[in-house]
Amino acid sequence: MELGQLCQSVIGVARAAADFIRSQSKHFDRLQVEEKSRNNLVSYVDRQAERLIVDQLSQLLPHAGFIAEEGSGRQGQGLNWVIDPLDGTTNFVHGVPPYAVSIGLVEDNQVLLGVVEEIFSGEVFHAVKGKGAWLGEQPLRVSKEQDLSKGLIATGFAYDTSDIDHILAVLKRLLVQTHGFRRLGSAAVDLAYVAAGRFEAFYEKNLNPWDVAAGALLVQEAGGVVSDFANGNNFLFGRQIVASCNEVLHCRLLETICKLQS
Ligand code: IPD
Ligand code: CA
Ligand code: CA
Repeated sequence: MELGQLCQSVIGVARAAADFIRSQSKHFDRLQVEEKSRNNLVSYVDRQAERLIVDQLSQLLPHAGFIAEEGSGRQGQGLNWVIDPLDGTTNFVHGVPPYAVSIGLVEDNQVLLGVVEEIFSGEVFHAVKGKGAWLGEQPLRVSKEQDLSKGLIATGFAYDTSDIDHILAVLKRLLVQTHGFRRLGSAAVDLAYVAAGRFEAFYEKNLNPWDVAAGALLVQEAGGVVSDFANGNNFLFGRQIVASCNEVLHCRLLETICKLQS
């Protein structure tokens, strides 16, 4: 199947999972939450949404493997679906938007297509490698801002806080260099918003591939720049990501992030 066509089917899968999650949000009971590790929450909603996604994607592309947050499916050799069934679980549990479904198709560290559905607003972002990125039918373009002091920057704080000193030092420095910060609670949505020109940049440490696969392609296909903290390409599995609207802002951010790294 051609990638663009496949992506339309993946949008259908993301929609089905988002509908399920939305239906559960109406009567969700916090007693149903478990903690995988400190502050890393999960419930039957994450697990059932992931099962639904994996079952439907298995039918679409029977030879592809899976890298899915809640452990469904098996990782394959070449093509893998990289899935976060519910990105922003803490938000979901507290009834706070945003939270999202994120699905990427990856081959040899390259993301071929990505879909992020922001469940509360119903916005569906998608991208196909080499073909562009869209919000619904609308093509996406990153912000044209070149001045970091006018940039709105998003970040997140992963559950692994072993690097807390570096994270806080970067935040302190950038707070006075930028227009301001947002911490939405969903890395997939943060990246989608960079792609849509709402944020000038996003960075976070200690994320997993399922948090960033789809969103990183959205940013690249909308004309933005994505790298790890060393300006290399290891942002999918390397647990460091910076995504910016252009090279100028990207370099300014990397300078601050690297200078303060111990
Ligand atoms: C989390 C969200 C959050 C980020 C955390 C992630 P989850 O994913 O993306 O924004 O700061 O690092 O783990 O656990 O809600 O799927
Ligand atoms: Ca996540
Ligand atoms: Ca998740």
